[in-house]
Amino acid sequence: MEKIPGTSKDLLAVNIDNLKQLFPEAFTEDKIDFEALKEVLGEYVETDRERYAFTWAGKQQARREAQKVSIGTLRPCKEESVNFDTTENLYIEGDNLEVLKLLQKSYHNKIKMIYIDPPYNTGKDFVYKDNYHDNLQNYKALTGQVDSEGNRLSTNSESSGRFHSNWLNMMYPRLKLARNLLKDDGVIFISIDDNEVHNLRKICDEIFGEENLVGNVIWERAFAPKNDAKYISNSHDYISIYTKKIDSFKIGKLERTQEANNRYTNLDNDPRGIWASDNLTVKTYSEAYDYEITTPSGKVVKPTNGRCWFTNIDKMQELIDDNRIWFGKDGNNMPRLKRFLVDVQSGMVPISIWYNKDVGHNQQGRQEVKRLFDDKGVFDGPKPVCLLLRILQIANLSQNDIILDFFSGSSTTAHAVLELNKEDKGNRKFIMVQLPEPTDDKSEAFKAGYKTIAEIGKERIRRVIKTISNDKNEQMKIEETNPDISTNRSELDLGFKVLKLDSSNIKAWDTQPEELEENLLDIIDNIKEDRTEEDILYEILLKYGFDLTLPIEQITIAGNNIYNVDSGALICSLSDNISLETVEGIGQLKVKLNPENCRVVFRDNGFRSDVVKTNAMHVLTGYGIEEVRSI
Ligand SMILES: C[S@@+](CC[C@H](N)C(=O)[O-])C[C@H]1O[C@@H](n2cnc3c(N)ncnc32)[C@H](O)[C@@H]1O
Repeated sequence: MEKIPGTSKDLLAVNIDNLKQLFPEAFTEDKIDFEALKEVLGEYVETDRERYAFTWAGKQQARREAQKVSIGTLRPCKEESVNFDTTENLYIEGDNLEVLKLLQKSYHNKIKMIYIDPPYNTGKDFVYKDNYHDNLQNYKALTGQVDSEGNRLSTNSESSGRFHSNWLNMMYPRLKLARNLLKDDGVIFISIDDNEVHNLRKICDEIFGEENLVGNVIWERAFAPKNDAKYISNSHDYISIYTKKIDSFKIGKLERTQEANNRYTNLDNDPRGIWASDNLTVKTYSEAYDYEITTPSGKVVKPTNGRCWFTNIDKMQELIDDNRIWFGKDGNNMPRLKRFLVDVQSGMVPISIWYNKDVGHNQQGRQEVKRLFDDKGVFDGPKPVCLLLRILQIANLSQNDIILDFFSGSSTTAHAVLELNKEDKGNRKFIMVQLPEPTDDKSEAFKAGYKTIAEIGKERIRRVIKTISNDKNEQMKIEETNPDISTNRSELDLGFKVLKLDSSNIKAWDTQPEELEENLLDIIDNIKEDRTEEDILYEILLKYGFDLTLPIEQITIAGNNIYNVDSGALICSLSDNISLETVEGIGQLKVKLNPENCRVVFRDNGFRSDVVKTNAMHVLTGYGIEEVRSI
């Protein structure tokens, strides 16, 4: 019986395979022949020693890190979840680098929108320090989960000598892994300020491609200017927006405001309604578009110097005949194009400056969290929900899209997703990732009992869910007494599943390859003692690349507990007393459910005897199950 491989998706192997498909001639005995590759690529090879490049101390290693596999897992935590069995929302506690690696199979090309608000590198905020040799152990040490000397998380101070490099080394592999998760029409929004915006743009240009930049928005963050600022009172942050493939992405339009509509009038009583006029000339010159137009008053006009009309002479005549060109009240002005309000009702294209009167300011974000937490300021610098709602809107989401935030802090993104679903009865799902960063023992959060930021993030979602449920109950009461106003309400997903990063459940997988030999003796019973069947089940889901929120049914066959994932797509028996009767029962279950593909997984030493183990394969093949593995 074949064993499931023990690591997350091997991205390097996938990329090499892709390269091989493209350039088979550049491979010799499974190794890349760079000379041959250079020859195939011809003039596209950069040979100049002086070239345009962005680099920093540690870049090479950061790049390699993004390719490495993770040997960790995500363990479900039912007690901290809400509606664990039915929800499709996830809250993952852990270092986002390892978590992003673990999600590579299950969520590859599945995420429509990512929002992140990483540390801005102000010199005072904490920037996670990866330890490439052993990220998991490092994670546990940094978050105080195992004993270590000096396990406090430290800030990245400007005097560190590698100030920007440290930040870039932290961001680079995470962004690289995040891109893999985006759908082709997916989009990422990154909050940042002047400390690192220039560096962020550079690495994003490299990772996403500069042609995929949607825009760099300015958000008016501050509520009021600071008069004690040394030079300039800084009142804005940036939000850099990149897509995976710009041609696949469509921006979500914003609702028209009264202010915008006020710019429309009807100076010539056009029966098509009110309109606003636009310049008819463009900068990109073309001789065919440079011609004379005679105005109704008889004046001959040409585009201003160096410019031309936006269309050719025939199309222009059609527009004039259709009364879509405005020459001013006296028919004597430069022509302009009439844009009718009815034609732009689909909404407004967002502009690159977002004022706080429209999307909130940082004080508002703080107030929102305080209001939810009994007037306690448990989190510094949460974004306002309104800002996230704007981002969700322009991401152009469908009703079932997945939204990821892997620096989720107080979970403002989850809050906004829940609000949006409540408003339009959508079923968008969120994945929050957050480090259990310890709160300062002098902070309000610590005093209120929240020992980590992850605890704050989870509690915020619980409280938002409670508020929405209460509103829903109120609404139901009103509807019961007034059937006329009853709405067509679909079930909202008011829950989230908590998963926590940890070392693998399987002893043999929980090891660096070089240490494997030492550990072999220890793996006769290869599951760690403190791990549950459900822990193992989730590890299997990750290894196979199943969505972590698929429906899971638990049934008993011949006294053994069986997990049936997604109606027979995966059947797992993880108990340690599997008999042939159980194996037969699994075969019959498969026949009954009739899934397109069925995989069966057992615990390697879970069979009652070696004979059962040997026969299991044979029995299940008889039922048409081809993929049987052990863990
Ligand atoms: C600026 S805050 C995000 C605030 C959030 N947008 C909000 O509105 O509440 C950044 C968060 O990223 C978290 N963080 C930093 N490094 C991390 C890592 N390696 N993995 C996961 N989370 C991390 C920090 O603990 C912090 O809470």
